Amino acid sequence: MAKSIACFANKGGTGKTTSVVNIGGIYAGQGARTLMIDMDPQSSLSKFFLGSDGVHGLYPNQTVASLFDEACIPNPKDLVHATQFENIFVTPASEHLKKHNKPEPYKLGEIQTVLRDFVSDVSDQFDFILIDCAPDVSNLPTRASLIAADYAIAPILPERFSVQAIAGVDTELARARDINNRLVFLGYFLSQRRSRLGLHDATESNLRSVQGERVFETVIPQAVAVAEAQQMGQPITIYDASTSAAKITAQLAAEILTRIANQNQTRRAA
Ligand SMILES: Nc1ncnc2c1ncn2[C@@H]1O[C@H](COP(=O)(O)OP(=O)(O)OP(=O)(O)O)[C@@H](O)[C@H]1O
Ligand SMILES: [Mg+2]
Repeated sequence: MAKSIACFANKGGTGKTTSVVNIGGIYAGQGARTLMIDMDPQSSLSKFFLGSDGVHGLYPNQTVASLFDEACIPNPKDLVHATQFENIFVTPASEHLKKHNKPEPYKLGEIQTVLRDFVSDVSDQFDFILIDCAPDVSNLPTRASLIAADYAIAPILPERFSVQAIAGVDTELARARDINNRLVFLGYFLSQRRSRLGLHDATESNLRSVQGERVFETVIPQAVAVAEAQQMGQPITIYDASTSAAKITAQLAAEILTRIANQNQTRRAA
């Protein structure tokens, strides 16, 4: 059974897609079969692995949108696409997902659980299933992601607006637990932090004093290597595992696993 982890945030541009690509790249590099599911109509993750033309050429029934389309009975096999990288598979999004980007999804009935059913159908084929969410946390795709996942993580930028968006994250976690009581929030992690920037230092220490252990120890720096890897269409460890950004991302990937193991231990003890 795969460990399923949704990466979400109540704000755009916090590093969700980059984190999924790079953390997934680390697990895949360690030999774990890794599926990345794109739940964002912008389709950044899908374009990263399949290219813009590749994504435009997809039929709706080859994308995650088909799960939400009542006229479609998707075959899970059609939704799992191999990539050029060993152990990395993608369930792509495309513009077809836009029409399912509905507000107030908790009023919508069974459609909220279609991604959960897909994840459970393919779970035994993978070690990790990472779900890249859209920035609007209160719409159907993100709700479906939080209902499908066992775990959630949330990147935040070390700046005021991003930290303020935490309230929205907590609201959606609580709502998702109405249906998915397995869901464990593993924590927030700071992303794109600039070293020696007083503002980022202050925001980080404030966040840690308020949120405590809900904040990962590992902090992802703003790094040229991350942007370069993205430009090359490669996860950071494949682009250059020797960069400090790659090593720090590997630490985050390990800290996620430690938090999962600790959680499971606590559950067994309870
Ligand atoms: N650690 C980093 N160092 C430098 N640049 C980064 C880093 N992480 C992300 N970026 C850049 O920041 C931008 C936003 O990142 P990304 O697309 O991953 O965010 P997102 O949360 O998925 O955005 P959206 O909400 O639009 O889906 C991208 O241009 C990406 O290249
Ligand atoms: Mg994104």
